[in-house]
Amino acid sequence: MMRKEFTTALSRAIAHGKGDATANILSDLSFLLASEDAEECAALYREASSIRDAECGRRMVLRGLVEFSSYCGNDCRYCGLNRENKNADRYRLTADEILESIALIDAAGIRTVVLQSGEDGCDAAWLASVIREIKSRHDMAITLSVGERKREDYALWKEAGADRYLLRVESTDPTLYAALHKSRALETRLRCLDDLQGLGYQVGSGIMVGPPGQTLDHIARDILFFTTRDFDMLGIGPFIPHPDTPFRDASAGTVALTLNTVALTRILTRNSWIPATTALGSLDRDYRVDALRAGANVVMPNFSPVSVKKKYAIYPGKRCLTENTGACAGCMGRLAQSAGLELDYSRADSLKNPLTPS
Ligand code: 5AD
Ligand code: FES
Repeated sequence: MMRKEFTTALSRAIAHGKGDATANILSDLSFLLASEDAEECAALYREASSIRDAECGRRMVLRGLVEFSSYCGNDCRYCGLNRENKNADRYRLTADEILESIALIDAAGIRTVVLQSGEDGCDAAWLASVIREIKSRHDMAITLSVGERKREDYALWKEAGADRYLLRVESTDPTLYAALHKSRALETRLRCLDDLQGLGYQVGSGIMVGPPGQTLDHIARDILFFTTRDFDMLGIGPFIPHPDTPFRDASAGTVALTLNTVALTRILTRNSWIPATTALGSLDRDYRVDALRAGANVVMPNFSPVSVKKKYAIYPGKRCLTENTGACAGCMGRLAQSAGLELDYSRADSLKNPLTPS
């Protein structure tokens, strides 16, 4: 049963997304996030999907993912690759191995590669040379996702040809951020996001839903933060406890809350790229299609070599670990079709206009 308060809060959230700021938006968002009523959630997803269709087109875009190193110097309490996990199997691909995976992405017709790693401290000049090599061989957008680095490194990679950068804020609440990260502060994360946007990268951010200590108010504030920073992409996935981390006994984030967060992020940020995350595809069934029906519009098939896929264990139960490299690309048509979206192979650059590097 749709409650009157729900309809009112939803209309106010939609108006806020269009630029009509309302005073009670935080409590409206918390109220909307909490709904588990089937009719209400259907209304929320319908609004989110229609905003997605109007702002971004009725399409699902692809980004090919290469996880090139599982070494990590950071100690995020939720992540299986944190430096204190002695059970993690570490690997680093060579430049040639990375280029082989990228050739497969190109052959699949995908025009973006996402180069992701733990905070492996890779030599900045080495990564710059890999970026230059990719650009000389392929007509593709390059997205980096290698964590917190010095501004100079970000600048060097931009100069070398990198187009985009993904760095989730994880939480905009300093206390929660500190509880999730053993030795890092929110301040550093925000500085990195500033540096990246200032250098003219198309920047993606995002959060996990449901890590220990996170409240609905935290999520509501994070969604508002997304709107103030004009991120080009926003990744939102459920927290999944990893057995070799301090959060091993915590419960996972729920699908319901994750989908509501995706839908409200769409409603508030309108024309951002929002992936149906791999974490949502790694639970008891594949919920990526549900995310695509709730306003998401990106999927990132994994092109890491099959020999290393299972070693990139951020959380347990990650999907598609035994599929050969590129096999996931074949599944994408089915996924798009189930969500009623066109499969889109374009670069799909930022829709935020104008791009304003300072
Ligand atoms: N469960 C779900 N998502 C996780 N991430 C890291 N660890 C986990 C986990 N245990 C997410 C973080 C990170 C992204 C690459 O993966 O949000 O930014
Ligand atoms: Fe990965 Fe199907 S989505 S093999």
